Amino acid sequence: MGNCEISEAHARELAKQTARKEELKEALQRDLVNCGHILFEPGCGHGHWLTDYAAAHPDTVCVGIDLISWRIRKGNDKKTKRGLTNLHFYKAELTEFLEVLPPDLRFERTVFLFPDPWPKARHHRRRMVQAGLLDELARRTNQGGELCFRTDDRPYFDWTIEHLESHPDWRIDDSAAWPYESETYFQGLMETYFSVVAKRVQGGE
Ligand SMILES: C[S@@+](CC[C@H](N)C(=O)[O-])C[C@H]1O[C@@H](n2cnc3c(N)ncnc32)[C@H](O)[C@@H]1O
Repeated sequence: MGNCEISEAHARELAKQTARKEELKEALQRDLVNCGHILFEPGCGHGHWLTDYAAAHPDTVCVGIDLISWRIRKGNDKKTKRGLTNLHFYKAELTEFLEVLPPDLRFERTVFLFPDPWPKARHHRRRMVQAGLLDELARRTNQGGELCFRTDDRPYFDWTIEHLESHPDWRIDDSAAWPYESETYFQGLMETYFSVVAKRVQGGE
């Protein structure tokens, strides 16, 4: 009976996940079909940076996702207030989002701003930057496209540098400027931070 209860709970969770992904997939198809390239910010929080970026780049479609509903609501309030039609926020988890994103959509730039550092070694697998994620972003990014990463956490910064250096499709570009400066909520709380920009290259270049 115990096992049966567990598997029923598991089945309910799976059904919820399937419904959530289906709903997200429909929204993405409706909003992003035929838009070609996007600027993508995983873990966009309240959307401060992305809203400013979208206002300054009206020809770029900007997409932000976050796990937390009220942060996405705040982002959407900013979008509405400023009348930005090139900006979209979704409540979504990064892996699920990538699974249901229209397959032909390309990323011209992906920007990570102060992602959760998960400092304990046993939690490192929860960090957004992982070898598999760099594979997936490379698959979606044309040559010359960018991955930009900024954090106040030195160990997470070193982790990201190591992952980028060991990936055949990304090359760190020390001469590349940070694409756009506008203080994020978390940036405002930090005294120092570290930034890196990597370019998509042809594997082995
Ligand atoms: C420290 S906050 C930074 C927010 C914002 N970028 C800033 O600088 O103010 C990290 C954000 O990433 C979100 N997040 C963490 N893991 C995520 C995941 N796997 N998918 C989507 N969002 C995630 C969290 O909910 C949180 O809002």
